[in-house]
Amino acid sequence: MTTYPEIQVALPAAPRRWLITGAAGFIGSHLVETLLRLDQAVVALDNFATGHRQNLEQVRDLVSATQWARCTFIEGDITQLDTCRRACAGADYVLHQAALGSVPRSVADPVASHDSNVSGFLNLLLAARDAQGAVAFAEPQRIRAAVDGVMMGPDAPLSGAREVALFPPVTG
Ligand SMILES: NC(=O)c1ccc[n+]([C@@H]2O[C@H](COP(=O)([O-])OP(=O)(O)OC[C@H]3O[C@@H](n4cnc5c(N)ncnc54)[C@H](O)[C@@H]3O)[C@@H](O)[C@H]2O)c1
Repeated sequence: MTTYPEIQVALPAAPRRWLITGAAGFIGSHLVETLLRLDQAVVALDNFATGHRQNLEQVRDLVSATQWARCTFIEGDITQLDTCRRACAGADYVLHQAALGSVPRSVADPVASHDSNVSGFLNLLLAARDAQGAVAFAEPQRIRAAVDGVMMGPDAPLSGAREVALFPPVTG
């Protein structure tokens, strides 16, 4: 298994291109910062439904100018398949954090939550599959990974999962 300290050494030596959806949100903006600090190329996607431009501005202030220059921001919505395809183009990895949280929100407006959390997620998976990128996504309580459209449960072997094993929290 590749450990996080090993990843911190390996990634800057062989930079990858990462798509972070929900990049202006809490988790997404921290992922953007962490990856830029590791000298990675990052495509950050968000529609600012609940995220904040200030989160990305803080990232800009925390990384070097050279690192920030490796970040491309797309203001867009994952409910649009074309947007997902554009964002996934050339991505080695997709870290999917775009979602509308809050049970009360989903009760008040179930269509909006379904559009982002279900249809948008499917759009993202289709786009990532076609771009042949590996996907890791957040869901409550656990993170699982999908590679080439095949869901990897927490106990699934990672031997066939290409470099997704580099991404540490693939556990139950
Ligand atoms: N924060 C936690 O403690 C926690 C714990 C477990 C799981 N999660 C999950 O992790 C994910 C991210 O959580 P978070 O706390 O960063 O949430 P967040 O609300 O801070 O971030 C979500 C981001 O997604 C964006 N977004 C929403 N719908 C979109 C759409 N249709 N197109 C593009 N962007 C869209 C929002 O604008 C926001 O910036 C969610 O799926 C959440 O359920 C979070």
